[in-house]
Amino acid sequence: MKKRVLITGGAGFLGSHLCARLLEQECQVLCVDNYFTGTRRNIESLLGEPAFEVMRHDVTFPLYVEVDEIYNLACPASPIHYQHDPVQTTKTSVIGAINMLGLAKRLHARILQASTSEVYGDPDIHPQTEEYRGHVNLAGPRGCYDEEGKRCAETLFYDYKRQHRLSIRVARIFNTYGPNMHPQDGRVVSSFIIQALKNEPIAIYGSGSQTRSFCYVDDLVDGLTRLMNVEVDVDGPVNLGNPFETTISELAELIISLVGSRSRLEFRALPQDDPRQRCPDMTRAQQILHWLPAVQIKEGLSRTIRYFDSLLSSPNEAKKIVWKVAS
Ligand SMILES: NC(=O)c1ccc[n+]([C@@H]2O[C@H](COP(=O)([O-])OP(=O)(O)OC[C@H]3O[C@@H](n4cnc5c(N)ncnc54)[C@H](O)[C@@H]3O)[C@@H](O)[C@H]2O)c1
Repeated sequence: MKKRVLITGGAGFLGSHLCARLLEQECQVLCVDNYFTGTRRNIESLLGEPAFEVMRHDVTFPLYVEVDEIYNLACPASPIHYQHDPVQTTKTSVIGAINMLGLAKRLHARILQASTSEVYGDPDIHPQTEEYRGHVNLAGPRGCYDEEGKRCAETLFYDYKRQHRLSIRVARIFNTYGPNMHPQDGRVVSSFIIQALKNEPIAIYGSGSQTRSFCYVDDLVDGLTRLMNVEVDVDGPVNLGNPFETTISELAELIISLVGSRSRLEFRALPQDDPRQRCPDMTRAQQILHWLPAVQIKEGLSRTIRYFDSLLSSPNEAKKIVWKVAS
């Protein structure tokens, strides 16, 4: 019988790729989403698949379904989105986690949490290992997401494992990019590509010397499914990301050259609590999952540029993913 898999946040950027991958792997996929940042457009190509089902639902409310595995991805991931309604972000992280863990407990299902490298805050060790406890600010504007929401969700996962012997997985995901990213998410890759395609100035916050590492979405999805399926007991969190590091200015220059754009760099003030460096230590992922990302940044960026180029050149498609801010 086909494995039944629930993906919360399945209409979002990562979730939509995960839905597609699990369908390829002959799973029956239930995509649950409240469409806060996700869009039906991301999953449109899957709607005709008999093994694919979609449900509009907010994970802050209990969910009663029958599945064998749960990937809990529901949560806005970009600062613009998660800071729009920080209280709802914390509810989604914490109450959403409690609801999904409760469901997993009832069903004896394995559950994977999409945590984030942002639990490390503005790190003072480099690269970040899973043992590093983070340098965070619970009172800052990022607190609702990374610096408490996602940390509390992780704690709940470990406690459900200890208290209820649940089979859990926690992926600490580092910056990921690729097609289906939200064009208005304000993240560097999507913003730089859109500015470059429009020949507009590329806005760099700070000096541009801060570093990030970027993982292409196909690699990340590979890491997530391996983590879910690995048969050893994975006790703690596992970093998933690409250890190849680049400065923000280098990234902007690379995108300008790949697009063939006339854009220039424009420097602006750095937002509060923006981390200076972010790079995963991949030792644990390599040991447990025998996995490292394979897609080179030039190749990944070229595929992402093609996605945004086609989106911008068809206004009807772009209209389908406008982020509606309730004011
Ligand atoms: N993309 C990254 O670089 C990255 C990095 C670290 C962690 N993550 C984590 O991975 C997950 C997916 O991120 P993404 O980049 O695909 O973001 P995304 O915003 O594209 O997707 C999140 C999805 O969750 C849905 N959602 C939000 N609140 C919900 C709720 N209350 N109930 C049901 N659905 C809800 C949204 O509509 C959206 O479809 C998130 O949990 C995020 O924290 C992503």
